[in-house]
Amino acid sequence: MVGRLAGRFVGLGITGSIAAFKAVDLLRLLRAEGADVQVLMTPSATRFVAPLTLAALSRRHVDAEVLDLLPDGRIGHVLTADAADAVVVAPATAHWLGAMAHGLAADVVTATCLATAAPVVVAPAMDGDMYAHPATQANVAILRDRFGYAIVEPESGALASGQLGPGRLADLGTIVDAVVAAIGDRPVRRPDPADRPPRLAGAAAARLARDGDDLAGRHVVVTAGGTAEPIDPVRFIGNRSTGTMGVAVAEAARDRGARVTLVAGMVTVPLPDEVEVVRAETATAMREALHGLLGTPGGGPGFDVLVMAAAVADFRPAAPADRKLPRTEAGLRLELVANPDILAEIGRVVRGLDEAGAAAGRPFRPRPVLVGFAAETGSLARAADKLARKRVDLLVANDVAEEGSGFGTPTNRVTILAAGGAEEALPLLAKREVAERILDRVVAALDARDAAAQTGPDEPPQETSVP
Ligand SMILES: Cc1cc2nc3c(=O)[nH]c(=O)nc-3n(C[C@H](O)[C@H](O)[C@H](O)COP(=O)(O)O)c2cc1C
Repeated sequence: MVGRLAGRFVGLGITGSIAAFKAVDLLRLLRAEGADVQVLMTPSATRFVAPLTLAALSRRHVDAEVLDLLPDGRIGHVLTADAADAVVVAPATAHWLGAMAHGLAADVVTATCLATAAPVVVAPAMDGDMYAHPATQANVAILRDRFGYAIVEPESGALASGQLGPGRLADLGTIVDAVVAAIGDRPVRRPDPADRPPRLAGAAAARLARDGDDLAGRHVVVTAGGTAEPIDPVRFIGNRSTGTMGVAVAEAARDRGARVTLVAGMVTVPLPDEVEVVRAETATAMREALHGLLGTPGGGPGFDVLVMAAAVADFRPAAPADRKLPRTEAGLRLELVANPDILAEIGRVVRGLDEAGAAAGRPFRPRPVLVGFAAETGSLARAADKLARKRVDLLVANDVAEEGSGFGTPTNRVTILAAGGAEEALPLLAKREVAERILDRVVAALDARDAAAQTGPDEPPQETSVP
């Protein structure tokens, strides 16, 4: 049987409702009807349902960042808008209805709807009082009466909030019927696949075969490599770090669905693709790069996780020469000054503490998970002290003098210490496997943090509505 949407290209917009998980089944139903689907998500929606699942089912990258370009430089939401035979937004939040009614294109879903000439189908889902509010009703009326969008009204029933009433996402079959009806017998707008967003192929498709997308929606910042502290314009004090461990963490986080920013110092291994790279070759530059990433204008943290795998120099020449120093028989005496301990500084800042450890500002909410590395030679006895002093959640300690461990090797033997006192010595493992083990603990820490934010005394639960 030929599906009712055979040959059609449909944009599926998902917004941040508890009903977002139902969009996975809606995607399946649209595909079963023969539709070629591009998934569009608001950033909130990526917190409710994993983009990896939707990418695997649609065979396309999920478009969740309005400011990202496609690899070939085209603008994703404009391409989808131009090619779509219909755009369906399900579930649509109260917030999204308001943004759409007023043309605020801060997310891919709104931007696509604004840019398209295709019919738009909207299925709201929210708690009953939110849906009944005059603001929401006015926004729905604008979409229906002024924009001509087809509204698939929410159903009445038991809501996840415990309420009984209207607000539940409409039956998925009803939403598919609405898409079919909205398209009617219009001609297919862009039958040529080259005019639609590209399908996944090669390495990206292979990566989807991996299960596990437990960092989707998270922003992970990783530092890698050594630093080069200038003596003069051509000479520097460096170290033996190659960046292998940090790059392995960045790649593993990317493959687990995270948005990754790699702050790269002196790195001799190839840098990964599909991560944002910020170059910072001195300790001072790395400090500036991290402080630049730290806060958002809204006062929240700019990232969820910081893994500080770079070997940052403890000292730098006090007064680097601005011209190449000439060779002299008398030799050269260098005065070195201490670099700031970047991780300890960030550990304080995110907790709103000053240098003395006293409360000095607002702690970050939610607080990012911090992971430090400690390269020791001979004994790991100082590691627990470092963990406490730097106020990190996890400290990965290794004896860099041990065979097969440390700088420039493909393997590492590490001990992971946790802020709660737990300590686990891992066997000699490939650095990528070490990275995965570290990220397993990071995911657990993030989940615990988010759970605590719902109930904890200092992190009040968010106002939510859960149909
Ligand atoms: C657990 C939870 C469930 C939520 N469910 C809904 C919902 O069903 N409908 C809604 O309008 N907002 C809901 N919200 C609030 C939205 O997520 C919030 O307004 C968000 O800013 C919407 O972002 P968006 O417009 O990008 O989708 C929920 C929030 C939480 C924390």
